[in-house]
Amino acid sequence: MTDAPFDPLTALRPWEAPEVTSWGRLPMHAVDRRAGAVSLDGDWRFQLLPAPDAPLGEVWSSSYVPGVWTVQGTDDLPRYLNIRMPFAEFPPEVPAANPTGVYERAVDVPAEWAERRIVLQVGAAESVLLVHVNGRPAGISKDSHLAAEFDLTPVVRPGERATVRLTVVKWSDASHIEDQDHWWHGGITRSVLLYARDALHLADVTVRARRDGDLRVDCRVRDAGGALPEGWYVSGELDGHLLTQDAEFDRTNAEDERVSDFLGEARLRAAVPDVRAWTAETPELYGLTVRLHRADGTVADTSRHRIGFRDVEIDGRDLLVNGERVFIRGVNRHDFHPLTGRTVSYHDMRADLVLLKRFGFNAIRTAHYPNDPALYDLADELGFYVVDEADIESHDHAHEIADDPRYLNAFVDRVSRMVLRDKNHPSVIIWSLGNESDYGANHDAAAGWVRRHDPTRPVQYEGAAKRGWADPGVASDIACPMYAPLEECLAHAMSGTQTKPLIQCEYSHAMGNSNGTLADHWEAIETTPGLQGGFIWEFWDHGILQRVNDGRPAGRGGAGLYDNGVAAPGHRWAYGGDFGETDHDGAFIADGVVFPDRTPKPVMFEHREIAAPVRIDCFRHEGVVLSNHQHFRGLDWLAGEWELSLADGATRTAPAELPDLRPGETAAVPLPFELPEDGGEAWLTLRVTTAGDEPWAPRGTVVCLPQVRLRAAPPVRHTPVPGRPVEVGEDGLLVHPLLTAAPTLSLWRAPTDNDELGGMAARWRDWGLHAPARKVVAVRRDPGRVAVVCDYLCTGGAVRHEQVFTAVEGGLLVEECAELPEALHDVARVGSVFETAAGLNLLEWFGQGPWESYPDREAGAPVGHHSLPVDELFTPYLRPQESGGRHGVRRFTLSAPDATGLAVRLDRPRQVSVTRHRAADLAAVTHHDELVPRAGCVVHIDAAHRGLGTASCGPDTFASYLVAAGVHRWSWTLRVL
Ligand code: GAL
Ligand code: MG
Repeated sequence: MTDAPFDPLTALRPWEAPEVTSWGRLPMHAVDRRAGAVSLDGDWRFQLLPAPDAPLGEVWSSSYVPGVWTVQGTDDLPRYLNIRMPFAEFPPEVPAANPTGVYERAVDVPAEWAERRIVLQVGAAESVLLVHVNGRPAGISKDSHLAAEFDLTPVVRPGERATVRLTVVKWSDASHIEDQDHWWHGGITRSVLLYARDALHLADVTVRARRDGDLRVDCRVRDAGGALPEGWYVSGELDGHLLTQDAEFDRTNAEDERVSDFLGEARLRAAVPDVRAWTAETPELYGLTVRLHRADGTVADTSRHRIGFRDVEIDGRDLLVNGERVFIRGVNRHDFHPLTGRTVSYHDMRADLVLLKRFGFNAIRTAHYPNDPALYDLADELGFYVVDEADIESHDHAHEIADDPRYLNAFVDRVSRMVLRDKNHPSVIIWSLGNESDYGANHDAAAGWVRRHDPTRPVQYEGAAKRGWADPGVASDIACPMYAPLEECLAHAMSGTQTKPLIQCEYSHAMGNSNGTLADHWEAIETTPGLQGGFIWEFWDHGILQRVNDGRPAGRGGAGLYDNGVAAPGHRWAYGGDFGETDHDGAFIADGVVFPDRTPKPVMFEHREIAAPVRIDCFRHEGVVLSNHQHFRGLDWLAGEWELSLADGATRTAPAELPDLRPGETAAVPLPFELPEDGGEAWLTLRVTTAGDEPWAPRGTVVCLPQVRLRAAPPVRHTPVPGRPVEVGEDGLLVHPLLTAAPTLSLWRAPTDNDELGGMAARWRDWGLHAPARKVVAVRRDPGRVAVVCDYLCTGGAVRHEQVFTAVEGGLLVEECAELPEALHDVARVGSVFETAAGLNLLEWFGQGPWESYPDREAGAPVGHHSLPVDELFTPYLRPQESGGRHGVRRFTLSAPDATGLAVRLDRPRQVSVTRHRAADLAAVTHHDELVPRAGCVVHIDAAHRGLGTASCGPDTFASYLVAAGVHRWSWTLRVL
């Protein structure tokens, strides 16, 4: 590979030189809005070389920019590893086999750009970018999630065609600090463009806009020729209101002879009266235009920004936005797309944020790197608090790198470039120094830079906060742990030693069927001073759409080949190991609150309710008490409708007049319905929707469904009918025309990811809970009544199970009792399982729903009359597992289109599931597309069902949601329709 022509950029071997963070790259600046740029997105000529110093071949293919070659038909496929690096070399070294993409295209440089400065901007490339233009070296850049700009004026001629070559080296010293938990790809992931500006220009604009209307705009002015021309000045306007140049500031600057010739600094000011402050609830934006003038008044440069007036401060252990202690209802969001891998369009980002708004989120941590500039524009516009995180994660070699002076440049470079770019966004309220990189001097250096450059925002870094929440040192103003047990957070908040706001940077790991105890967390957060929220891990299940026949990523051609969270036939959602890798971290990449196609998982409904802006506090004196749980808004943007659900009747509705409540206020409103004397259990729901169109939701979008119980269920009584026979076989199994498998005891569920990674599933397998031998001990027959006693033999001991079948008025009463020996102290479930004949395809139930819910994730599922086709009850988690459960079910019917079928009434609200899969079917496969639905239904009625917890990464469920050993009793009636 030595016969390649000499090239100074490759000769430097910058991919193994951490000290080299860039060469020829222009300084970072705030993103502004400029017209006239030429987009270079589209198909580029492309070659994938085996190493950066390998010679170019003869044959070119093509590659779409922006995009990663790993999903565009090359043999270098995506690879998923969480912590471990995909190669053994120690930092800063990389393997000799180092895929390198060479992108080339011709660009017509507009003739009217003569005399102007011509800039190439590469939105993002991973992990090292080498730029050649017309065969000449033009620059080097690292920092895979921020743009790099290069001054091409010396190497191109306006009016002529230029050849731009972008060489992207996949593995580098920088990969060691980009070891985030997601897919490894290679390519150019954000847009490429060319633009021109005058020699005299605004090099940067820094906006400080406070909630009292005080506006300060600092302008840095440069001239490409060196010395600034005499007499330049700046002007500005804010939505038509003129800003004034701060003469005091100019005077001070003019006295400094060192800078005045070549560095211009000017400050514009305004005191904006009656300012509409920006918050995530009220994302009020103003348009700012800054102009740079030559002495004769002509405009040399214009820079446009949308700004928001707001303050962020820390007061003791409270993080305040505009003086209010706001709750952070956050999520961690990666740049992900099931077809492009990493490239997300404006449309995608908007859809992500719109969905988050609709489900009650108000904050985003840009885990774990700066996002596309458009994401921050959208966060400003739709209203999100953003923790902006630098692209630093050295997870596998964290300790070595944190104090390695060779990486010092890179740390400061990455953090400072992020701050320089994003400083004008009102949405950004906190800077994060990165993720999982231990803690060392390199962090403190970066923190020092931020503190000097932007004293207006707090800094956070989990690695520093780990030293001690009360004293994280210079690198963190916030105690921002990940996956801290709730009791530890509470203990800290109540210890009297708390000094910083406690906002978890990651909590409630959303892998598979998860997020148990979210409501318990929020109850604690909302009632404990010192706790302020956190960021759920994470938004996406990063399943890449894959063709099953050839194992290739579907790429952009896969558009439309998925729906409702499910890949089309012949396709599946790939996770770690699916592209032929032998060393990988499997389904750990599928840990989001949405499926790879952005279909919300059931936890989203839980979150929406937990975040409800208006709630029903209680029912008393013929009325209910409503409260406003927002920080800044009234209820006027919401509309309401009352729903009365009676167990033994239809649902009734009535329009609701929402009271005029300021944040934190409560008011009693009279009950909208006369409660009928009969009708049993009664629930009142306030269906809250948007009263008008919001930028993120059309009028009528559901915001929350708060609920209160008005009347408890009366006890159920049964009247035996001793004359009616009960058919039970010699094997003790019920014989019933509609059942293809009689009710037996179930102690197991298809392990969830939490069950597997938390170690419970292994224990259950050891105990043999998935297939205990059933031994009939006794069958006793009386008129209209048969009692069966069985033992289920597990390694942890025998479980005695008794079933008494009694003919009662209106059907068959099944009374059950199971006694678990002490050794079986934490099983998945105790309950009955049976299977029905084919054709019963509709489930109607009175209980919680309509979406999936579990004992520790049920706060968002209101009680009511629900109905769904059986095929829609199941949630298609990427790795099949327990799914489709409904909590708090009081009774249900399973029916065929001709209304025949069966009806079940439970002794009290129970966990029920009706699916097409046995637990063993689910546990036997690795991907959803391998599941073969059964024709009949598999029905579980649980006396007790274990909570879900979050043990795949973080705390398990609470003790109160475990299934205890000892005696469990439950009963139900079965009736033929
Ligand atoms: C955290 C990490 C995330 C992710 C998560 C587990 O430790 O910061 O990047 O790996 O765990 O899914
Ligand atoms: Mg990590």
